[in-house]
Amino acid sequence: MDPERYRTSPLDPTAVAELAAAGFELQLAEDPAATEAWYQAVRRGFHGGEYTAEHKAVRGARVGYRRRTIVRDPLAEAPGEVVGTFATWASELTVPGELVVDACAVSSVTVAPTHRRRGILRSLMSGALREAVAAGFPVAMLTVTESTIYPRFGFGAAAEAASWTIDTRRVRWTGPTTSGRLDFISRERLGEVAPILHERVRRRTPGEAQGPSGHWLHLPRTEADAEKATELRVVQHRDDAGEVQGLVAYTVAGAADETQHKVTVEFLATATDDAYAALWRFLLELDLVATVTAHELAADESLRWMLGDQRAATVTVLDHQYVRILDVVAALEARTYPAAGELVLSVADPLGFATGEYTLRVDASGIGRVEVGYTAPDAPRLTLGVTELGSLYLGGVRARTLAAAGRLEATDLDAVDDLFRSRVTPRLSFWY
Ligand SMILES: CC(C)(COP(=O)(O)OP(=O)(O)OC[C@H]1O[C@@H](n2cnc3c(N)ncnc32)[C@H](O)[C@@H]1OP(=O)(O)O)[C@@H](O)C(=O)NCCC(=O)NCCS
Repeated sequence: MDPERYRTSPLDPTAVAELAAAGFELQLAEDPAATEAWYQAVRRGFHGGEYTAEHKAVRGARVGYRRRTIVRDPLAEAPGEVVGTFATWASELTVPGELVVDACAVSSVTVAPTHRRRGILRSLMSGALREAVAAGFPVAMLTVTESTIYPRFGFGAAAEAASWTIDTRRVRWTGPTTSGRLDFISRERLGEVAPILHERVRRRTPGEAQGPSGHWLHLPRTEADAEKATELRVVQHRDDAGEVQGLVAYTVAGAADETQHKVTVEFLATATDDAYAALWRFLLELDLVATVTAHELAADESLRWMLGDQRAATVTVLDHQYVRILDVVAALEARTYPAAGELVLSVADPLGFATGEYTLRVDASGIGRVEVGYTAPDAPRLTLGVTELGSLYLGGVRARTLAAAGRLEATDLDAVDDLFRSRVTPRLSFWY
């Protein structure tokens, strides 16, 4: 996969023609003026304010890695006004087995409220998926504002994000005693160290993704809002050998009662159990703080067992990382499996990319090989849509659960779950 070649590859001709027939022009936003128009439209699409010079100063150059597309309306009050935006880039998705698969990441999807429900998104998405297939991506992925939009395009919810709010006054630390040391570091240092740490740990957890070059600079407190930026506090954990093994960035919101401050974790990454326990203990034992809130965690964090009182934590779970299988053979062969076995999959895909019958054979070492066709007559059989296959893929959603919801059928649900389950709970630690 050559990310730059993909980024500038030609637009899907069917999408160009569909949008032209509806009176619109589909273009890549490459030059500064088009990129600025793209930004303006993205901000308006998500109900943000105008894209100002301040935003530009902070974010201007940081979407360079994205393939940015715009839809222009020649008949608008300002001719050529951008009424649709889309972005994709070459990324990697972690799959079970501490492996990665090339993934087409999708973001910045907006259609102007004046132009909604005329099929602009459908053309953009179908075109982008065809482009992704042409470029050789086995999967696409995205995070969502609304759960209802993307399943129709074959994206299945595959990894959750849990938000934890902890009443620190109820906590009596029962976690391990840790070694190493904690120090405050600057925001600038965070910008250097966070991508390195994320690179070190992302392969451990299915659902994680590569942090694209500019992404780390999108930490909330660094965008345009200089005052807020100064509120960010960053603490690093180093082990006894002096190596950085954990980072937490957080903000503190004051309260009239100065003992009731609220801490929000903006970034947390740890490479060792020690760093994990040390940073959580640090947060939970901060003086003058009543609650600590952190997002994009797993629902089954070890943290729960370190609180003394499990009910000190309120946990809410959201669908977060969505996966779209484009090439069933390459996607299923990219991950490993916890047990040997055979399975015949019959996949239906409204957009056609994944439709077909496939035979998955997993050997004793957990390596899966896939043949197109129904070549194992005695194997259990799984019949499902591509959206459900996306949900099963990372091993965090059980076939039994989907079957009970009427979302798939299998002759042996336990066999499917024994094959697909992941030893590590899938999770994605950021939005994109
Ligand atoms: C979501 C959005 C991009 C949809 O664009 P659009 O051009 O109106 O969508 P389309 O007309 O192409 O609709 C395609 C299909 O998706 C459905 N759909 C579109 N938006 C939907 C929504 N918000 N919820 C549920 N379904 C939706 C349509 O009903 C249509 O279904 P069908 O083809 O099965 O009949 C647009 O409403 C928007 O910009 N919303 C605000 C920003 C946002 O949330 N973006 C998504 C970021 S993850």
